[in-house]
Amino acid sequence: MTCFFLDTAHNALDYIECIHAILKPGGLWVNFGPLLYHYADQHDQPQLEFSWETLEKLIPKMGFEFLTKETRETSYTQNRTSLMQMRYMCKFFSARKLNLKS
Ligand SMILES: C[S@@+](CC[C@H](N)C(=O)[O-])C[C@H]1O[C@@H](n2cnc3c(N)ncnc32)[C@H](O)[C@@H]1O
Repeated sequence: MTCFFLDTAHNALDYIECIHAILKPGGLWVNFGPLLYHYADQHDQPQLEFSWETLEKLIPKMGFEFLTKETRETSYTQNRTSLMQMRYMCKFFSARKLNLKS
């Protein structure tokens, strides 16, 4: 399970490779979170900012098959009574590690 995590990567492909490596064939990866890249404003911190459309194409090429994909709106660590409400459009997907033998 990766929750509000993918966008903490300098290079999200490294995370996807790592997730693939730790899952056994047929293992499930569930993700929930936005792509609000953490280092976007830190120019001394290199970061690749993949769009969802790009990740959506790359994840199957990296040994996964999507089972479900949807976008869900949510808050995150939000004070519900605050006059300022932040909402995140999150990518909620499940993907299975391809069983390379099949
Ligand atoms: C936005 S928080 C999300 C925390 C939790 N999953 C949640 O939903 O509340 C991002 C988390 O990723 C962790 N993190 C950032 N970069 C990481 C890395 N390279 N490896 C492992 N954890 C990392 C941070 O320590 C932080 O706990």
